[in-house]
Amino acid sequence: MKSELRLGLAGLGTVGANVAQLIERKSELLAERVGRPIRVAGVSARDRTKNRGFDASGMAWFDDPVALAREGEIDAFVELIGGSDGIVREAVEAALRRGLPVVTANKALLAHHGVALARLAAENGTEILFEAAVAGGIPAIKTMREALSGNDVSRVYGILNGTCNYILTRMEKEGLSFDACLKDAQDLGYAEADPTFDIGGYDAAHKLAILTSLAFGCEISLDSIFVEGISKISIDDINAASELGYRIKLLAVGLKTDTGIEQRVHPAMIPARSALAQVDGVTNAVAVDSDLLGSILLAGPGAGGPATASAVLSDIMDVAGGFVPPTLGIPPARLQPYQRARMRAHEGGYYIRLSVYDRVGAFASIANRMAENGISLESIVQRKAAAKNGEEAAPVVMVTHETTEAAIRKALDALSTDGHLKDEPQMIRIEDLD
Ligand SMILES: NC(=O)c1ccc[n+]([C@@H]2O[C@H](COP(=O)([O-])OP(=O)(O)OC[C@H]3O[C@@H](n4cnc5c(N)ncnc54)[C@H](OP(=O)(O)O)[C@@H]3O)[C@@H](O)[C@H]2O)c1
Repeated sequence: MKSELRLGLAGLGTVGANVAQLIERKSELLAERVGRPIRVAGVSARDRTKNRGFDASGMAWFDDPVALAREGEIDAFVELIGGSDGIVREAVEAALRRGLPVVTANKALLAHHGVALARLAAENGTEILFEAAVAGGIPAIKTMREALSGNDVSRVYGILNGTCNYILTRMEKEGLSFDACLKDAQDLGYAEADPTFDIGGYDAAHKLAILTSLAFGCEISLDSIFVEGISKISIDDINAASELGYRIKLLAVGLKTDTGIEQRVHPAMIPARSALAQVDGVTNAVAVDSDLLGSILLAGPGAGGPATASAVLSDIMDVAGGFVPPTLGIPPARLQPYQRARMRAHEGGYYIRLSVYDRVGAFASIANRMAENGISLESIVQRKAAAKNGEEAAPVVMVTHETTEAAIRKALDALSTDGHLKDEPQMIRIEDLD
């Protein structure tokens, strides 16, 4: 048997403690599978006194993760602290400068600095592995980087945030409001006290930035992502979607278009019969359309200690077995510069919900604004008028044929100034899925 692999493990929280426990519990099995023992030789966290469910007596303790990366007697560095900058970035850079392989679950670090870190790794003859950074336990990275390496990918998309999917699923199944579902998600520990990162779509955007780079062989470009969260989705939209044969999901999409790469995170109406629409609750899913394989969908736990540790462990075993592919699938020098397709050029169908005053001329104005912008309607339904604040306003739901984002925005801006609408128009993009 080969010599042991000594790990430096920085971060012993939800994921880190699970990784240490798994390595302790499965040591014989892991050694048998990779042909060498795997041992946690050094650890770092903030509180040295905490019991974390594994025997740390034989492990060197480091208050400072950078010192562990720089001086620890280790063969690989595992970063499970989180955050894109400060000591975390410093520690990862220090490990790479020593030529150590780095395993991380840190989507923020990769989304912000992935290309620079991939270059630093390559310069020092090593790589970064990050299976757990996207969709937790789902083997999305290996699938993109290895299983699909001979395919031309045209679209990568999915449900990448469990909190949002939990909220939308409960709104639909139980007819509850967004606020009530968010509160439940917080009580159950699915959502943070400040939920902006999740419900604003930013968490999904970090993951999408990484997937897009792997899908299209381009540099990571987090800033190019159009991001819209789920907080404006109402029960009226959920019900209308259901009547129209759709379900609403927070979708993350990376798409190759004639003008560049479109990256977007937003609530989308997807066909209720599609495989992705069946992904409920906190479950995540990653789907890929490619030339040889057609469409595939991977679904499973996107978070949680054991599921995420499973993905981290698979990277550690690759390191132990000497299988360390290029960080972003191809050497960083061959990554294409990111070419951004403008969101205004996005093409698709749209759902629009208006609250229209019950007055002469209102419908004509809607029809004119749509026609002026070359938008044709697949359907338009006026629901019964409801008295609001003493004024009659009728909900009107429209579904458009394929058009552009620019046309829709111009039409809705014009409608908002015509004086026939009681509230801001609601607009939800429709995603064409099998
Ligand atoms: N949790 C999930 O389900 C999940 C899923 C996918 C990916 N991830 C990613 O995995 C990473 C870790 O997440 P987590 O949920 O395990 O986080 P966590 O439970 O908050 O654990 C963070 C760990 O980092 C340690 N730490 C914080 N600041 C430190 C510092 N300055 N020096 C040394 N140690 C420090 C903490 O020490 P103390 O314990 O002493 O406070 C703790 O052990 C993140 O990048 C996250 O995005 C998590």
